[in-house]
Amino acid sequence: LGLAAFGSTALPLAGCQVRSAAMLDGSDERNPLAVPPLNRGLIEQGVRTFRLSVTAGEKEFVPGTASQTIGIEAPYLGPTLDMRRGERVRFHIDNQLSEDVTVHWHGFELPAAADGGPHQVIRPGKRWSPSYEVRQRASLYWCHSHLHGRSGPQVYAGLAAPIYVRDDEEERLGLPSEYGVDDIPLIVQDRVIDGSGRIIYPLNMRTRMMGVKGDALYVNGTRNALFEARTGQVRLRILNGSNARFYTFSLEGNRSMQLVASDGGLLASAHSVRSVILAPGERAQVVIDLSDGRPLRLLAHRPGNTMGMMGGRGRGMMGSRETRGGDVVPILDIRPTGSFAAAQLPADLVSLPPPDPSLAALTRRFVLAMGMMGRGMSINGATMDMNVVNTRVPVGQWEIWEIVNASMMAHPFHIHNVQFRVLDRDGKAPPPMETGFKDTVIVHSREQVRLLLRFEEHTDPDLPYMYHCHILEHEDAGMMGQFVVI
Ligand code: C2O
Ligand code: CU
Ligand code: CU
Repeated sequence: LGLAAFGSTALPLAGCQVRSAAMLDGSDERNPLAVPPLNRGLIEQGVRTFRLSVTAGEKEFVPGTASQTIGIEAPYLGPTLDMRRGERVRFHIDNQLSEDVTVHWHGFELPAAADGGPHQVIRPGKRWSPSYEVRQRASLYWCHSHLHGRSGPQVYAGLAAPIYVRDDEEERLGLPSEYGVDDIPLIVQDRVIDGSGRIIYPLNMRTRMMGVKGDALYVNGTRNALFEARTGQVRLRILNGSNARFYTFSLEGNRSMQLVASDGGLLASAHSVRSVILAPGERAQVVIDLSDGRPLRLLAHRPGNTMGMMGGRGRGMMGSRETRGGDVVPILDIRPTGSFAAAQLPADLVSLPPPDPSLAALTRRFVLAMGMMGRGMSINGATMDMNVVNTRVPVGQWEIWEIVNASMMAHPFHIHNVQFRVLDRDGKAPPPMETGFKDTVIVHSREQVRLLLRFEEHTDPDLPYMYHCHILEHEDAGMMGQFVVI
């Protein structure tokens, strides 16, 4: 793999090698992909109601050795929560752990009291019952721990689950949508495995700065996963559920995929792409074609572990789109059980007028910075303080949020309670992947990204929402701020 076309720009992947599963594990064995069970809740008095317990569990990341984990209705991770746009949902979440947790609905517009951020702590043995109306477009969302200072270790231990929102607009298109058959969620995570085969969460001066990154890659908790496809088209809903690692996903042999959706829903049309880059918190949906009966292999390119910041050649390795080094790891084999009739995606998906910056009443600037040794993680010079509201935003006002990365590594910037549009990156139009609705956006080192957004919820003027870096070790170290919608 000397030169591969990655995304819209052809990037040389110097020093990149495709490592085989055999080289990683000493075996060629593939394991059936775990697909989280679908949980539709129950309709109670017209409200879709989910009863979920957060529990301690055990999982073998390496066969024969159990690790201590956290899960939602499962030993590790949780079910896919299935809901529809326009309906009201309610959750009864029981914390059966001996530590505090929170459960945040990533990507949702909702009342602050239901957000599940650092202010909605569920104490051990207690129940939390938030309720909200699903306003989101059909897409893949997710929920995860957002406990102040402890999101990193809790998500790492498994406190996260995928959410499907469906709507009429999407269903009319006839995209692959039979759950577990031709529509599968892929939660991609990396884990550090110690000598005994257990996962460990190594928090130290270096990982506080770089984030915790492991060498072992899992999809829905499965290593070297295999999926047997019974259809000619399969929709993969990919979530980067890792704490800190960015990935470039591609298909072996440089085969193309049809990119149909980003974080907050479908794009205006499908884009044929050879790769998709996702930072922690980001999602993408691709439709792959298996009609010729050939097996496919999904690869994850992991950037190298060393940062370019010491070299000082402009943008560092982590901060650059020209990611060099690292390696390419097969994470999922897709084996068709036969050959199938070729199918065509509709030419147009949804109507998505380009964002209009002239709507904005004002521009707010957010400067991301980090000091040495993982200290001094800040936004606009302030480190997260639960008692300080950093920003007050009038409800319903269009605004431009200009995110400036003054640090030497890239940060995925995430905003609660909104789906925004990306206006530009350093003045240049965003790539296809960023032309739809998003809630998390990569901001490279020394880059400036402009977002157009508007908050529509106005229910708890005193309760803050968060904006933060979605590298969980950075979030935990305080690269987070609070805003209220007034
Ligand atoms: Cu996915 Cu504030 O988080
Ligand atoms: Cu969120
Ligand atoms: Cu960060």
